[in-house]
Amino acid sequence: MFSKTNFIALEQEVRSRMSERRYLHSLGTAQTCVNLAQQFNEDISLDECYECGLLHDIAREWPDAKLQGYSKEHQLVLEPEEKLIPMLLHGPVAADILKQRYSPSLCLAVRYHTLGSIYMGRMGLILFIADFLEPGRTHLSGDQRDSLLAKKSLEEVCSGLLDNQDAYFESKGKSSAFTSVALRKFLREGGEL
Ligand SMILES: [Fe+2]
Ligand SMILES: [Fe+2]
Repeated sequence: MFSKTNFIALEQEVRSRMSERRYLHSLGTAQTCVNLAQQFNEDISLDECYECGLLHDIAREWPDAKLQGYSKEHQLVLEPEEKLIPMLLHGPVAADILKQRYSPSLCLAVRYHTLGSIYMGRMGLILFIADFLEPGRTHLSGDQRDSLLAKKSLEEVCSGLLDNQDAYFESKGKSSAFTSVALRKFLREGGEL
């Protein structure tokens, strides 16, 4: 039975690793992961969903040089965009740190949470969506959030999110990462993670 009281120690550990603002985002993402898994009747551990959300941004506040140094030292395999924008390294770096203590599916989800990937798995799909939809985020209106959550499957929610993201990037004259474009195409063609 899922109970948040099992995570008090982990919450304190995560709290000590980041700012108050980032911690609140992590808590919101953790709870949203659990809510999504329940809403969509996912056959997945709710404990792991909560841990995944809580831990996904543990390296988000590292300076660029530290992220780059870690990636080099541990010979992380990177996406082209991650080599260009060091902030994006916080996904693969966190996944590498977590692999000693957590399952491959949790680590894969964390690995790809920034850009999304067809390889991120079911937990990755949940985390990717929760990271954008958690209540502390202000870039989506309540209506936009509600209409995404009214979709029939997590794949459809994710597809809708990527459409929103793409429109935003286009308005800024930017293009989406290769792995995000591949994910969007995969989902549009009916692919399941
Ligand atoms: Fe992140
Ligand atoms: Fe996040």
